[in-house]
Amino acid sequence: MTTFDQLQSNPQVDSSIQDLLGQLADHSQKLTGIRPPNPELTEEYQATLDDFASLRGGKLFFPYLASGLGNGPLVELADGSVKYDYTCGIGVHLFGHSHPAIAKASLQAALEDVVMQGNIQQNLNSYKLTQKLTALSQKNGAPISHCFLSSSGVMAGENALKLALQKNSPASRVLAFERCFAGRTLAFSQINDKAAFRQGLPEILNVDYIPFYDEADPEGSTQRALDTLTQHLQRHPGQYAAMFFELIQGEGGYYPGTTAFHRALMECCREHQIAVLVDEVQTFARTHEPFAFQHYKLDDLVDIIWIGKAAQVCATLFTKNYAPKPGLIAQTYTASTSTVASALAILDELESAPYFGEDGKIAQLHNHFKAGLEDIAQRHPDLLSGPWGLGAMTGCTALDGKPETVMPFLHDLYKNGVMAFVAGQKPTRLRFLLPIGALTPEHITDSLKVLENTLIAHRVSS
Ligand SMILES: Cc1ncc(COP(=O)(O)O)c(C=O)c1O
Repeated sequence: MTTFDQLQSNPQVDSSIQDLLGQLADHSQKLTGIRPPNPELTEEYQATLDDFASLRGGKLFFPYLASGLGNGPLVELADGSVKYDYTCGIGVHLFGHSHPAIAKASLQAALEDVVMQGNIQQNLNSYKLTQKLTALSQKNGAPISHCFLSSSGVMAGENALKLALQKNSPASRVLAFERCFAGRTLAFSQINDKAAFRQGLPEILNVDYIPFYDEADPEGSTQRALDTLTQHLQRHPGQYAAMFFELIQGEGGYYPGTTAFHRALMECCREHQIAVLVDEVQTFARTHEPFAFQHYKLDDLVDIIWIGKAAQVCATLFTKNYAPKPGLIAQTYTASTSTVASALAILDELESAPYFGEDGKIAQLHNHFKAGLEDIAQRHPDLLSGPWGLGAMTGCTALDGKPETVMPFLHDLYKNGVMAFVAGQKPTRLRFLLPIGALTPEHITDSLKVLENTLIAHRVSS
């Protein structure tokens, strides 16, 4: 036993942590539903928001500053209001707010000697997390053998791209799907298929696009994607290092692909020694399997994958063929001690209950949410269409799907106590990143009533 083990297993330490968790639960349980702002706090809240906007050089997307307390899908803001959160930090808070297991892990982590861990100095938990993620990725036979922790989704993606470019050098072009989103670094701004995300930036990477799967035309769209891939390969023979796969398009508008579609393209990449890169930053822990590549049964075809968001810690996982040469990958910060501990707590939670599978908790909550949206769509076909998406990525189109209509609606929905987000451009869809680790059917019913009433109010006002 190390001296730190003695500290951790000290009964007084444990009982102090239990006391704190008890206090947290007592306060958290006071948040029972949507609550309007406290008028006494409103003025100061607005002044703080204005000052924050000025300091950061632009307004926040939502006038959202949280107090620090929540209760599952409910979050308290610093103006005293309480809202349902289906934005979840754009997919980070899979277990909602103030989750006891995550709070416990963070309290324990606060006793460790350092806040941040990095390349040359890591604590034992970073090893445990690396081992656990690698094992999870291998569970259905994927030949993944390495895992490198990282500080953001896009950094994990940059590491993936570098591994592919180094291995397949001098090939340097990459392929990606139309409408894809990959992150915000200079290199990745070239991959995102959205002009506004790279306006004014120099081109530093050659990217060619493949049309994504169309559920209205499964065979035709698969053939069109394959034909486009073939044309690119003929135009630039031997020059492609990697193809990016976002198996369910997130930012692009919640469009899932299929096994047959992804498999056909991946097999073609394999034939041409093009690395198959799978961006699981948004999809990790949101489908019927821990990884979306497992959901789509693509285990035999993946070379490099990376995760972020729900996992709290980001990571690049890869096969031995793509192991880097010394010097290619290193980071001062790989993750903070509390995020590593929280990531382990989340993986334990995901293992301890039947979240995955056709009848798992993720599928059940998705079906409940989907049925509620379908019900609204049936009764108000002019106000809502869809739903789309899969698992804890559920979307629909509100009103006419035009950004100028959807944005004011989204902000009114926020005012009325439900935070959702947008995805895609034509149409602009509403997206709900379900906090499946904390959500109940009752929460969903309650939230969908607010959604319906806000839709109706927008019909009246338009
Ligand atoms: C599919 C996908 N890849 C990468 C990223 C970038 O992750 P991060 O913002 O943590 O860098 C995101 C973020 O939204 C994403 O949805």
